[in-house]
Amino acid sequence: MKLAHIILLVTAFSSSSVLVRAFDPITTTVVVGIGATLGRTIYNYLRESCDPKWISFNATGLRADLDSKLFGQHIASRIIFKALNGFLNNENPKKPLVLSLHGWTGTGKNFVSKMIAENIYREGMDSKFVHVFTSTLHFPHLSHNITYKAQLQQWIKGNVSNCERSLFIFDEMDKMQPGLIDSIKPYLDYYDKLDGVSYRKSIFIFLSNAGGESITETALDFWKAGRGREEIELKDVETALSLSVFNNNKSGFFHTSLIDKNLVDFFVPFLPLEYQHVVQCVMAGMRDRDMDPDADVADQVARDLVYFPKSERVFSVKGCKTIDSKLDYYT
Ligand SMILES: Nc1ncnc2c1ncn2[C@@H]1O[C@H](COP(=O)(O)OP(=O)(O)OP(=O)(O)O)[C@@H](O)[C@H]1O
Ligand SMILES: [Mg+2]
Repeated sequence: MKLAHIILLVTAFSSSSVLVRAFDPITTTVVVGIGATLGRTIYNYLRESCDPKWISFNATGLRADLDSKLFGQHIASRIIFKALNGFLNNENPKKPLVLSLHGWTGTGKNFVSKMIAENIYREGMDSKFVHVFTSTLHFPHLSHNITYKAQLQQWIKGNVSNCERSLFIFDEMDKMQPGLIDSIKPYLDYYDKLDGVSYRKSIFIFLSNAGGESITETALDFWKAGRGREEIELKDVETALSLSVFNNNKSGFFHTSLIDKNLVDFFVPFLPLEYQHVVQCVMAGMRDRDMDPDADVADQVARDLVYFPKSERVFSVKGCKTIDSKLDYYT
């Protein structure tokens, strides 16, 4: 024991390489071990690693972002906060969290995914534990489906083995070939472990326009009946949404066992955006650019967008998309 103490002291003050040569194999192992541990600690300190220093849920931050930056999505905002807060505060979840975000283009699906990533991972979307798959980019060819299935499984398994708190975002689910997503079904299910890997702390988010029409129809019905948008509740859209997604043969969810087996925890509807929300988006865009928000400019940008249905002109065809580039033109 004494010898070990001396070695520790000496190590602290002298060059370890010299010492390593001077000592017997056991001592050498101790010295190298300490050196390696110290090295790893410094390395982990500087580089993103799978620990609470880099991954910790900021519930207050997520709530504030949803409340102040996401416009016109009262249902999505509520579900997303509750789902994540519940899941991330549960030490022992029974399965990974699976959210499926649906809605018209430009209504905030990617935007919210980014907020989620930023409030869990210090590095946000740049975190090496956040993985984005885009159907048209990563799985473009129908004929390679079998290879894609194997790759996707390997990818997910590899990443979750590396860090159980991984976030997977599958974008453009409606453009994914039917059947491909079923290959990840085992990972989303109620298994303790699969081949020694536990998936229960991971989060899967699917994004798609599938079901957007049924959500829009409901929103339009409310509008026509003179009812407030905020009166729309999840139950008003949920059933129609999951059915239209499941039965849409153009959607990556077509007859998928993920829906059949209830592996999707929440279907999150994104409502189509109205003129007032577009105005809010423009004002936010100006603030992001450190410009003084100008209500006249916001009004002008919002007025120049196209709205549907043609006769009533209620919802923005592109949601809040392309607003950023429009700002260059109007200011
Ligand atoms: N509800 C919203 N509140 C605030 N900003 C929004 C909202 N929806 C969209 N935006 C703005 O518009 C941009 C584009 O939105 P986003 O990429 O999230 O749309 P999307 O729903 O993913 O559309 P798509 O279905 O076409 O992929 C966002 O980066 C954000 O700046
Ligand atoms: Mg998107």
